[in-house]
Amino acid sequence: MYEEYWGLKEKPFENTPNPRFLYYSPQHEEVMSRLLYIVKENKGAALLTGVFGCGKTLLGRTLLKELDQDVYRTAFITNPYLSYEELLMHIVHNLGGEPVGANKTDVLINVILEKLNEILVNNMRDGKRTVIIIDEAHVIKDKRVWEEIRLILNFQLEDRFLLTLLILGQPELKTMIDGNKEFAQRIAVKSHLANLTQEETKQYIIHRLSVAGRNESIFSDEAYQLIFAKSGGIPRRINHICDLALLSGSGEGVTVIGKEIINDVSSDLE
Ligand SMILES: Nc1ncnc2c1ncn2[C@@H]1O[C@H](COP(=O)(O)OP(=O)(O)OP(=O)(O)O)[C@@H](O)[C@H]1O
Ligand SMILES: [Mg+2]
Repeated sequence: MYEEYWGLKEKPFENTPNPRFLYYSPQHEEVMSRLLYIVKENKGAALLTGVFGCGKTLLGRTLLKELDQDVYRTAFITNPYLSYEELLMHIVHNLGGEPVGANKTDVLINVILEKLNEILVNNMRDGKRTVIIIDEAHVIKDKRVWEEIRLILNFQLEDRFLLTLLILGQPELKTMIDGNKEFAQRIAVKSHLANLTQEETKQYIIHRLSVAGRNESIFSDEAYQLIFAKSGGIPRRINHICDLALLSGSGEGVTVIGKEIINDVSSDLE
């Protein structure tokens, strides 16, 4: 809609986990290198927590994209609202396994676990590595599901893990996991993503605009400050404000977006 007005090739502030737009703030970079380390060094499991909209899903997606498709077999579970049988079946299915049984209630959990084990061992024999990401894991409240995830982590040979498991979710996930000692001990790395700083918020905006094809600045310095204040440095909110500001600015025919427009468009966010 406003792309042409601002000389953009595409919309810069879409709220979708598109790796092309990833801005590496120091903490996003640190988290990514830790996740890559866990995967490449076969460390078993890692936990990534962070406030809502700060980039966990985006980092997970980007990580899978960076992995060599010839070597890695991956499953990205985005809907952990599943029951415990369904979660396992979903993982098996994502890893390319045949459906286990026609009706899920017919299938014993052990049968699905055996199937998963078989997939993991086959992957290893074929020289493939397996990575499973469970996103939004803070919604998992059922203890049986956590017990099952712990069982998955037990899949290992004497000298190595048969899979890498990455668990992503909002901050309360860390408390949930720390409350389960057996589980917490199996997590090799725990990372946390916080809000962007004021300067990072500005760099984030500049980065996304440049990916979308615009290298000259659009926002005034005061506008940047206000975007930070209104968004709290949370990327999803920054996107929301900037998208509306670009729309409003094009409607008003301005060449620079100042603090007035930011004030207007962010009033409904508060
Ligand atoms: N470092 C970043 N660079 C570019 N865009 C980002 C970055 N971090 C977050 N975003 C953008 O912000 C939006 C929200 O990010 P994402 O969905 O990854 O957050 P989340 O941490 O998974 O949130 P939730 O807890 O609600 O699931 C996405 O549109 C994403 O593109
Ligand atoms: Mg997410």
